[in-house]
Amino acid sequence: MARAKITSVRGVKDILPEESPRWQRVEALARETFARYGYSEIRVPVFERTELFARSIGEETDIVNKEMYTFNDKGGESLTLRPEATASMCRAYVQHALYSQPGVAKLFCIGPMFRYERPQAGRLRQFHQIDAEAFGSLDPAVDAEVIVMLADFLSAAGLKDLSLQINNLGDAECRPAYARALQEFLRKETTNLGPEVQERVERNPLRFLDSKDPDHRAIIARAPTIDLHWNENCQKHLGAVCDRLKGAGIRFEVNPRLVRGLDYYCLTVFEVTSRNLGAQNAVCGGGRYDGLVEELGGPPTPAIGFAIGMERLLQLIGGEADESAAPASPLDAFLVPLGEKAAAEAFALAGELRKGGLRVDLAFGGGSMKSQMRRADRSGARYVLVLGEDEIAKGTVSLRDMRESRQEELPRAEALSKLLAGRR
Ligand code: HAM
Repeated sequence: MARAKITSVRGVKDILPEESPRWQRVEALARETFARYGYSEIRVPVFERTELFARSIGEETDIVNKEMYTFNDKGGESLTLRPEATASMCRAYVQHALYSQPGVAKLFCIGPMFRYERPQAGRLRQFHQIDAEAFGSLDPAVDAEVIVMLADFLSAAGLKDLSLQINNLGDAECRPAYARALQEFLRKETTNLGPEVQERVERNPLRFLDSKDPDHRAIIARAPTIDLHWNENCQKHLGAVCDRLKGAGIRFEVNPRLVRGLDYYCLTVFEVTSRNLGAQNAVCGGGRYDGLVEELGGPPTPAIGFAIGMERLLQLIGGEADESAAPASPLDAFLVPLGEKAAAEAFALAGELRKGGLRVDLAFGGGSMKSQMRRADRSGARYVLVLGEDEIAKGTVSLRDMRESRQEELPRAEALSKLLAGRR
């Protein structure tokens, strides 16, 4: 009886060979763009101590409350697959004292993130982010530079029709006053919404603003907004960011209702959305988190960054890039050995050609000349090298140019130099 197939987990996808080139191009573009702004790559682990995410993203957030892949390892330690990279990058920044280097530390990270969300179009349980973070400056010019870099990357990736929204979530002085005003409003408005909602309003009223529930959204639409509470510092900061962005020719909108699903933010927050993505319309989100490094045991270090969702980005880039793409890895040569002795020689010859920098494959497992030639044809290789008993006896190889449909028998060394001379 045939055994049952094992499929991948819900909300988790394979990136197949024909899709990989698009991923590689986008990653290469991010690396090139970010390098022009002085960013270096950091690779942080895919799992961390659970406490790291609980302490940074916030105990009351949906991410920490409902969406983390948390497990005890065999030593009984609670670990979590990273739901985002900012917390890990801050942890690494503190652990390796990256703050001891002068200037702004600019880091980026590319890789998979894990959230136990309900899978739907644009929402996965394993997804990928391109994440950039700048540590060590309060200067609003850094906020602007981060956003300009993001816009630069998105436009180089060919994305159009995006909308950039910016808000200022207040600082340590004015945010508590706003939270109190919001709490007062919500206490009155949520009396019929059950104890769970009311507890949330008591513990962290700002988190109510994330709710997707239509009844809650109606209340949120009437709730006081942060702009009524901005102090001079926040107004100046936002004004300076906006001025720089206008100067750089970036189109954006200030939206005092923009909130983010993570607790660590202060001052500038922003989101890039697209009309072409459906319900999950955010391509990128980010903002300042001036207290987080200190919260994780480091020195007081203001910081700001963003993360782009790669699946959503690729969805927007669409099929165009695919059509223009070269085949995943075109072969230069395909070897067809006829007989066992030829198979051993072909194996060695393939090695020599590869050492010379060529992309080479060979027919394994024997078979008739006809079936091997069919394999050679399907491989898409420019040249096919046939090694039969005759060729072995004479020390030659039959070299067939598949593009020109021409075949010639050449001494082995000559065939080798011909192929190597034509290499890309
Ligand atoms: P985030 O808004 O939670 O922010 O995620 C950033 C982006 O990741 C989203 O805009 C979206 O494109 C993508 N994304 C999030 N969840 C999913 C999912 N389940 N499936 C597919 N794509 C998803 C953060 O993660 C912050 N760490 C951003 C940041 C960096 N803030 C400061 N620095």
